[in-house]
Amino acid sequence: MSDHVRPAAGGRRPGARRAFLAAALRRPGQIGAVAPSSPTLAGLLAEVVPRSGSPVVVELGPGTGAVTTAIDVRLPPGARHLAVELDPRMAGFLRQAHPGLEVVEGDAAKLQTLLVERGVDYADAVVSGLPWALFDETAQRSILGQVAAVIGDSGAFTTFAYRHGMALSAARRFRHVLHATFAEVTLTPTVWRNMPPAFGYVCRHPRTP
Ligand SMILES: C[S@@+](CC[C@H](N)C(=O)[O-])C[C@H]1O[C@@H](n2cnc3c(N)ncnc32)[C@H](O)[C@@H]1O
Repeated sequence: MSDHVRPAAGGRRPGARRAFLAAALRRPGQIGAVAPSSPTLAGLLAEVVPRSGSPVVVELGPGTGAVTTAIDVRLPPGARHLAVELDPRMAGFLRQAHPGLEVVEGDAAKLQTLLVERGVDYADAVVSGLPWALFDETAQRSILGQVAAVIGDSGAFTTFAYRHGMALSAARRFRHVLHATFAEVTLTPTVWRNMPPAFGYVCRHPRTP
């Protein structure tokens, strides 16, 4: 992170909203959202990121970097911040907007392989913006199993869900997979000024497989 240009806390980059909307229109089945996370939601998701030491933080589905920014403002010098993004244009946008970020253009389904290739076998925090509702249960279990292996018993994992979808069967199924994977699953307060309103899941202590 030493060469990292630190953005203003909660700041939004020019062009990010346009790039996000373009990607959502281009690949709606991959983005699963109409707007980037708000700074408040991003800040809640980033709360698991250590402020001291030399932490390794992995972000999944960073998009145009709303959560990336919130992570960056917490990270101490010497930290590693890797971001796994499937969309090549989003990855290109991120590389320009966040010069200190290690952008990994790839599929979160191959998380452990992607990390091992970069010499990473442990992360203090994994922060996800992935559109879980677009993945089947097998894919959810596979990615979450890899996240669990990467954070071990001392790391933390956060992700978000939309408030209006909470009662839907897909959301219930995802909660079930979260509880099956982690012994501790807590909810953040709902961020009503997000588009649409959303909350975070904070997960720790993977269950033994
Ligand atoms: C809802 S957007 C979230 C963007 C950002 N984190 C935020 O909160 O504003 C989902 C992002 O996940 C990416 N994505 C979808 N499937 C993915 C996968 N299998 N591996 C990595 N990234 C993926 C999409 O390209 C998109 O950038």
